[in-house]
Order: sequence, then C-alpha cells, then structure tokens
Amino acid sequence: MSVTRSLLAGNPLVPVIVIDDAAHAPELMAALAAGGIHCAEITLRTSAGLAAISAIAGTPNFSVGAGTVLSLDDFNRAADAGATFMVSPGLDPVIVAAALERGIAVLPGVATGTEVQHAVRLGLDTVKFFPAGQLGGLPMIAALAAPFIGLGFVPSGGVSASNAAEYLTHDAVPAVSGSWMATRALIQNRQFDEIESLSRAAIDAVGAA
Ligand code: 3PG
Repeated sequence: MSVTRSLLAGNPLVPVIVIDDAAHAPELMAALAAGGIHCAEITLRTSAGLAAISAIAGTPNFSVGAGTVLSLDDFNRAADAGATFMVSPGLDPVIVAAALERGIAVLPGVATGTEVQHAVRLGLDTVKFFPAGQLGGLPMIAALAAPFIGLGFVPSGGVSASNAAEYLTHDAVPAVSGSWMATRALIQNRQFDEIESLSRAAIDAVGAA
C-alpha cells in the first residue's frame, strides 16, 4: 500500500483549511481531533499557511499536509515545515516525482481520463478528483473508476455533510475532502467549538467514529 493510501486508510475525511493566522493552528487542530478528525490539509493560499503547518507538525496522532502545492518550491517549503502529505489542484509530474522520491504522500488533482492515465503512468495509486461537484460528482468518479481498476479517487470541491457518506460508499473512494467542517470564517472567528461539533457530525455521518 502506498504512503498515500496508508494515510487515507486512517483518515476518510480530509479537512481543507484556509487559515489567516498561524496562531489559530493549535486550537484548530485540537478542535478537529476532539471531533474525531486526525489530519488537516493546510492550504498555501494564505501567507499564514506554512507557519500554521510548522506550528502543528509532529503532533502525535495528527497528520498535517499542505494544500495548493503549485510548484517544487511550494513542495520543498511545505516539506521543510513538516507537511507529511501534499495536495495540488492539478497534476504536476515534478511534484509527484519529488513526493515519490521522498516517500511523502501526494494527492494531485485530476479531472479527465487523460489526466488519470497520466497519474497512473507516474506510479500513483490515488488521485484527487477536483472540483468534484462541478465535474459530476460520484457518477463521474464511478465512470472513471471503471477502467482504472484499483485506483483511488478523493473527491474535493463541493463535498459536504450531506454527500460525504454517499461518496464513501464507492469502493474507489478511500476518503473525501472539503472545507465544510472548518471554514475560513469559522477559523477567523475562533469558533472552535463549532468546528469540533461539525467535525464530530461529519465523522458520525461517514460511520468512522
Ligand atoms: C478547495 O478547493 O478549497 C477544496 O477543494 C475544498 O472545496 P470546498 O470548499 O467546496 O469543500
């Protein structure tokens, strides 16, 4: 099993985090963990992203990854900050190669059969399906999964409390990702109790408590 699949085997829900103040990271992580979620994809969309990764990297029983990894520089900075998995909106062979070489979990985004085929050729067993809702959701994943036997698809974009469990019913979906349990606004407003409760509800909904 790849490092990516091992990570997802224990983490069927991957929260996508946009954080504006790295000082919020420890409380955010504690809220997610209290709700039963033990990983977070902290995006590099804000200047606080890397510092937030550093602030919580290395915590036992919690995996911190980087999202919006758009270049090898992003990859290296995130790895140096302690990120143990890397997520991108698209498929960049340079980033994938760096991850495979260093044994770091990686989830590049794909949207078409051509991109899936490229990901398989690069040696991946799991991809992110992005933006899942706009691309057709679970029926589209089912159609793509049919020829790519054994490949895992992690939908992201438009996943919510109401459809996460349905995505996870498909054998080709090892995990789902989304921002609904820890939105940028909830973090900005320090509504960590709400994040804990949304996380718990999400875990309950997918039967992973
Ligand atoms: C993103 O693009 O931020 C992720 O795919 C999460 O999307 P979401 O906000 O629709 O969950």
